[in-house]
Amino acid sequence: MHITIRQLQVFEAVARHLSYTRAAEELHLTQPAVSMQIKQMESSIGLPMFEQIGKKIYLTQAGDAMLVHARTIMRHLEAAAEEMNDLRGEDSGRLRVAIASTVNYFATRLLADFSRKNPAVEISLDVTNRESLLSRLEANLPDLALMGKPPAELDLVSESFMDNPLIVIAPPDHPLATKRQISLVDLSTEHFVVREPGSGTRVAMERFFADQEFSYQKSMELMGNEAVKQGVEAGLGLAVVSTHTVEQELTLKRLVKLDVAGMPIMRRWYVAFRKGKRLSPTAEAFRRFVLEAGTRGSDAGR
Ligand code: PGA
Repeated sequence: MHITIRQLQVFEAVARHLSYTRAAEELHLTQPAVSMQIKQMESSIGLPMFEQIGKKIYLTQAGDAMLVHARTIMRHLEAAAEEMNDLRGEDSGRLRVAIASTVNYFATRLLADFSRKNPAVEISLDVTNRESLLSRLEANLPDLALMGKPPAELDLVSESFMDNPLIVIAPPDHPLATKRQISLVDLSTEHFVVREPGSGTRVAMERFFADQEFSYQKSMELMGNEAVKQGVEAGLGLAVVSTHTVEQELTLKRLVKLDVAGMPIMRRWYVAFRKGKRLSPTAEAFRRFVLEAGTRGSDAGR
């Protein structure tokens, strides 16, 4: 069955008016042009849509059934046109953002601000560690990602927007809590609670320690920043975390930051997307929003 959208429109108009003449007027066509469209449609369907009895035309049974489908198809077409129209604007549409778990501590605030300014945008947020975030980018799932410095192998367009300093945290009663300029040698007898493999924070910590030829002792491996912080509070050891994750605990003095020489490990946060990805106006607006909200600084992050 080869019928065109135009034929469906003509058919719907004739069926509504039950008149070729009035349908032609409505569609600004000649009456023979309308008859021709209907004839072509009937011959490709293989059934008559109308029957003429006396001076009046009626829908056949097939015509009746076809009219239901024609109206459904036209409604879908209108909905599609509306949605495409929305997508051309930057204040609506859907936005899929994937963020590294550590970014979650400030990203929700960013997204809330963006959402307040663009209430019609439907945002979905995917929070995961660096490794699974990279595999999601590889699968082209998110529009944008907020993450630590992306690896060069994955073809990404990325811009940094905010510092991400990594510090060593301890419980407030730790003997090193009041010591100044702690050296890594001072830390050699300490144990560290570490994030799960796949965490960007953990990779950066291990790279920093390796650069300093320091081999740390691991007490426990825990999944996610919250578990790590609780582990430190419970006395399981020290930990290297992003300052973004411990603002509250430091203010409430549930944890302290150790003054380790050479720290913080200065990283940056990046907003990234796959090279070649056609960002929707909404995604582009969010990218600009993140860059504007962030702090300018050097891009030499780890
Ligand atoms: P993560 O953060 O430790 O939550 O994976 C990502 C990163 O720091 O690159």
